[in-house]
Order: sequence, then C-alpha cells, then structure tokens
Amino acid sequence: MIIIKQTRFLSLALLLAVPFMATQVQASADSLSGVTAVNVASSVSAANTFNRNLKKDKVRNAAPPEDGIHDPANDSTHVLQPPLEAFEGFPPSDFGNYVDWVKTLDDGIIQPRWDRKDPTEEPFVMDLDIVRPVKASVPDVVFPHRQHTMWLACSNCHPAIFIPQQQANQINMSAILLGQKCGVCHGKVSFPITTKSCKKCHSKPKPADWEPPLSEATLKNPWR
Ligand code: HEC
Ligand code: HEC
Ligand code: HEC
Repeated sequence: MIIIKQTRFLSLALLLAVPFMATQVQASADSLSGVTAVNVASSVSAANTFNRNLKKDKVRNAAPPEDGIHDPANDSTHVLQPPLEAFEGFPPSDFGNYVDWVKTLDDGIIQPRWDRKDPTEEPFVMDLDIVRPVKASVPDVVFPHRQHTMWLACSNCHPAIFIPQQQANQINMSAILLGQKCGVCHGKVSFPITTKSCKKCHSKPKPADWEPPLSEATLKNPWR
C-alpha cells in the first residue's frame, strides 16, 4: 500500500518505473499474505497487460496467429488479413500499430460505418478543444473532441470516464499508465504512451512567462 501512496508525488519517476513497480507490488503481495495487497497486484498487472508502457513490440504489427491476442489454435485466426498487408498505404506514425488513424480517417482512406446496421448513419462530430494546463514543465495537454467524436459516441466517455465539465476531472500520468482516464483507451485501442507520443497530447507550449508553481511547503515557509 505504501508504494501506491508514494506514487502520487512521484508521477514522472513512476512513468519510467511502471514495469519495475508492477514487479515490486507483486513481490510485496507475495511476501504479505494480506488480501488487499493481492488485489492491488492483480489490478496493476491486469491494467498493464495491454498498456505497453514505453516498451516496444519485438515484431512490428505481427500477423494474428503471432500477435499474442488472437488464439492460434482457432482456424479463423489464420483467415484474418495480416495488419501489414491491410495497413499498406495508410499514413504512418511512429508508435502503436504505426498508422496515423486520425489522418487515415480525415483523408477518407477508410470510411468506417457509424452504425452496424444503418449505412446512412453519421457520427455527431463536436469540434471542441479542452486545454488542461499541467503544473509540471511539460507542454500543456489539449484534449480534442473532434478527433474523438469521429470514432466515438459521447457516452463512451461521459459520464463514466469523464464528468463533462472542464477541470472537473483529476487526471495524471500515473492513472493513465495504469489504464484509467485517457489510459482506458490509449495503450489499448488507440495510440499508446511512448516517448515518441508525449507530444500528441502535450501539444500546447507553455506561455513565454510560465514559471513552475511554488509548492505549498515553500509558500508556508516563514523564512522565504
Ligand atoms: C474520448 C472521451 C470523450 C468523448 C467521446 C467526449 N468527450 Fe466531452 N470531454 C472529455 C474530456 C476529457 C473533457 C474535459 C474534462 C475536464 O477538463 O475535466 C470533456 C469535456 C466536455 C464538456 C465540458 C466543456 C466545458 O467547457 O466545460 C462537455 C459539454 C462535453 N465534454 C460534451 C461532450 C459531447 C456532447 C460529446 C459527444 C459529441 C463528448 N463530450 C464526447 C472527453 C470526451
Ligand atoms: C494520451 C495522452 C497523453 C500522453 C500520450 C502523455 N500524456 Fe502526460 N498527461 C496527460 C494528461 C491528461 C495529464 C494531466 C494534465 C492535468 O494536470 O490535467 C498529463 C500530465 C503529465 C505530467 C504532469 C504530472 C502528472 O503526472 O500529472 C507530466 C510530467 C507528463 N504528463 C509527462 C508525460 C510524458 C513524459 C509523456 C510521454 C512519455 C506523456 N506525458 C504522454 C496526457 C498524456
Ligand atoms: C474512449 C476511448 C478514449 C479515451 C478515454 C481517450 N481517447 Fe484519445 N483517442 C481515442 C481514439 C480512438 C483516437 C483516434 C485513434 C488514434 O489516434 O489512436 C484518439 C485520439 C486522440 C488524439 C488525437 C491525435 C491526433 O492524431 O490528432 C489525442 C490528442 C488524444 N486522443 C488525447 C487524449 C487525451 C488527452 C485523453 C484523456 C483526457 C484521451 N485522449 C482519452 C480514444 C480515446
């Protein structure tokens, strides 16, 4: 439990240490026989099965029988078109399955059906950017509704993942890397958190006069 509490203050360190932390939590779960510790371990490892935090796949876009997701013993797995063939000519990216899906859709290269049964149904696209100023020195986060509502319904996020009100949600990198908030999708079905993808979300440069906010301890320090 102590490990989890500390991470609140060590988000950036955690970012680089999540695979290591998973082992640590596992180790403490093994040594303590407490029920809570075991639950923490299982929720951490379950969240990270798909979230390939900062780790690269050994094979780029492996064919379904080798991708570790599909069952190679099922005959139908071998009928599926391999991604490398299916994605040919799609705008590339440097992470995930190496396709820039937003551009692929914007350029009309794919036309996914919005409704499985009704081919004429169109998505309700909402162009609204939400800026989330970040206290750390990394660029601020811009959450774009347009790129999301091209693929998703409002109810995919509201209200279960995010309260639809600016700054009403507490979001941080630890939660994202553990598969919560943005990490419910990013790292699983949409582009993952890798050193190359930071700037996709952290896309708004800090104002020229930005200075790191002073900590509460500093503000209270009578000798300052
Ligand atoms: C992929 C997830 C996602 C989807 C899909 C989504 N939103 Fe949001 N929405 C967010 C996030 C994140 C915020 C910002 C919350 C915050 O800052 O705490 C937000 C904020 C909002 C806000 C508050 C704006 C403000 O100025 O306070 C409204 C209203 C909203 N969304 C409506 C919608 C509607 C309508 C749709 C569907 C057309 C939709 N959202 C689809 C994630 C989503
Ligand atoms: C899927 C979008 C996304 C990606 C990719 C992403 N971040 Fe974040 N990051 C966020 C959000 C959202 C916040 C919370 C902003 C806030 O305070 O509201 C955040 C916050 C942070 C913070 C502030 C401390 C904290 O934990 O809240 C740091 C530092 C940070 N990110 C670094 C990174 C680095 C480094 C990368 C690349 C390895 C990265 N981020 C990739 C969305 C993202
Ligand atoms: C319900 C699933 C879901 C959630 C939750 C979600 N996203 Fe996304 N996001 C997607 C999908 C799907 C795409 C489009 C496919 C892709 O680019 O991988 C996308 C695309 C994006 C893009 C567009 C990149 C571009 O190329 O224009 C940004 C930026 C982004 N997400 C940031 C965020 C941030 C920040 C959060 C959390 C505040 C978040 N997303 C939460 C599913 C989600």
